Amino acid sequence: MILIRQAITRVLSVFGYELCRLSPLERPTLPENVRLNYKDAQIYRALTAQGQLSIEGARFLSDLVRSCDPQRPIVEIGCLYGYSTQVVCLAKHPRQRLYSVDNFSWNSLGISRTAHLLATRKRLQEYIETQNVHLFEGSAEMFYSQYCDLAPALFFCDADHSYKAVTDDIAWAKSVGASIICGDDYAPQHQGVVAAVDENGGAHEVHGRVWRL
Ligand SMILES: C[S@@+](CC[C@H](N)C(=O)[O-])C[C@H]1O[C@@H](n2cnc3c(N)ncnc32)[C@H](O)[C@@H]1O
Repeated sequence: MILIRQAITRVLSVFGYELCRLSPLERPTLPENVRLNYKDAQIYRALTAQGQLSIEGARFLSDLVRSCDPQRPIVEIGCLYGYSTQVVCLAKHPRQRLYSVDNFSWNSLGISRTAHLLATRKRLQEYIETQNVHLFEGSAEMFYSQYCDLAPALFFCDADHSYKAVTDDIAWAKSVGASIICGDDYAPQHQGVVAAVDENGGAHEVHGRVWRL
């Protein structure tokens, strides 16, 4: 059976075709009682991908961005597919620098690091070219060690949600004098975020999981 499948796969690949099927992890993310073909199913998954800001969180983040000093940069750690980056961009001054940092180590669609990076870079292309957005394709740690700009007007933290990582993110933001320190996922399912924020004086405000120290 395996040999037959391998032979069919090889013949199909000669003509540019691939044998595809949804994985058991992908099926529960699709609507029930409707059968979608493979292409439609994957596009449905991409358009409804999880792991991004809620609308309430996005509104709060926009308010914070609008209130920050436009002369100084904004730093975002964890952009995923660029949704929060776009939210920040819509609220910031067009010339205000925005550093968006991601090492592309995780995504909610289960795509490769390369596909994730290329798709996010493409999605943010216009922002990078016209809105003073700088996409840093590396880890938060690497970014912190190279940072040599002004004290951030706003630091938005939404990358590794472990207690240690969030503690380190907040410590760096404080050490460089960030005026507004905020992030996503202050929620019971992210105990690392909650503990790190609480240890740093607690959330002054939380809207739709977005916290601000
Ligand atoms: C929850 S998602 C960010 C969601 C995004 N802020 C939004 O609302 O649209 C977390 C992102 O952080 C990235 N990430 C995780 N650990 C990281 C690290 N140490 N340095 C940089 N990025 C990291 C992952 O690759 C992922 O894209």
